[in-house]
Amino acid sequence: MNDFNDFYAEGAQALFDRGVKEVPRAYIQPQHERPSAAARLVPGKQLPVIDLSRFHGDGRNQVMEELKSACESWGFFHLINHGFPDSSMKAMLEVVRQFFELPAEIKMRFFQKIGTGRKARYGLSFNTELDRVSDWKDFLAHPCHPLSDELISTWPDVPLHYREIATEYAKNVRALALRLLALLSESLGLRESFIYEAFKGHHQLLVINHYPPCPQPDLTLGVRGHTDVYGFTIVQHDDVPGLEVMKDGSWYAVSSIPNAFVINIGDQLEILSNGRYKSIKHRAVVNSERTRFSIVSFYGPSHDATIAPAAEVIRQQPDQKAEYREILFEDYLREFFSRGLDNKFNINSLKIKK
Ligand code: OGA
Ligand code: NI
Repeated sequence: MNDFNDFYAEGAQALFDRGVKEVPRAYIQPQHERPSAAARLVPGKQLPVIDLSRFHGDGRNQVMEELKSACESWGFFHLINHGFPDSSMKAMLEVVRQFFELPAEIKMRFFQKIGTGRKARYGLSFNTELDRVSDWKDFLAHPCHPLSDELISTWPDVPLHYREIATEYAKNVRALALRLLALLSESLGLRESFIYEAFKGHHQLLVINHYPPCPQPDLTLGVRGHTDVYGFTIVQHDDVPGLEVMKDGSWYAVSSIPNAFVINIGDQLEILSNGRYKSIKHRAVVNSERTRFSIVSFYGPSHDATIAPAAEVIRQQPDQKAEYREILFEDYLREFFSRGLDNKFNINSLKIKK
């Protein structure tokens, strides 16, 4: 094994614990990928904020318009007054902190080099065999749907209460996701159950990202620019900044609003909405001071669902043509996971040439 691979096996947490003063070569991004101050934090622009409680009141039409416009222009928004129990958000953040503090040999019981979205995985980079540059993070991922004792028994059994707290969190995520599915359907002019049905058996994947402080944060990334491959994503942040969104060729730092979620559209909703809703490129930068966590729930179709542009959406568009080929979600995921993030499978390969 060369030293390049040794660094992969070691991971960002181990490097931080060892007190390295320089980022090893395996974590250094090529110049054009590095977080450059110039392209960030364009003042005056912030993600839209959607207040879920307003869907019940007089302002319903207006907030529906805001949702539509957020999904069309940013593909990202903050969600406030979402009804997700505060206690569940706090408990989850606390228990995942404890997980990442566990000794490496315990976490490594769950180590896998490559993801599938189907099994619990402790990971040190997206694809440990193929990534040319490793991410400055470690993470825990596992599916959360359909919830059964059998599924839960595949999750980490440490720390104490992890399974209990993650079960509660997963149920709350699903409840929120189902509300969003209905609203997103309506916002596209579809019947309320449209996306719910299109996703068939549904899939829900929890990914907990842990970004340790980095001695040279300008040389590396927590996760490099990518789009999310599922339907949409529900992100819980802590108060440490790091998430950045690409808009009009610039990176925007996403602020964190206490108790809010960040929601973003993934590739499957871009396809289903025939490109009206955008699956936007985003990344995470790291810093030299503070550890950052993000608790990310990917919600989308079951593996056996075929995703295609909705005929009803196509009919509303000027060209009235499908812009994307349909795809079996299992095939999409296989392409996604079997490549390194450098060769990431891209939604553009499904675009129908004009
Ligand atoms: C992801 C992701 C960003 C973050 O896990 O897909 O984009 O803020 N994470 O951790
Ligand atoms: Ni993402």
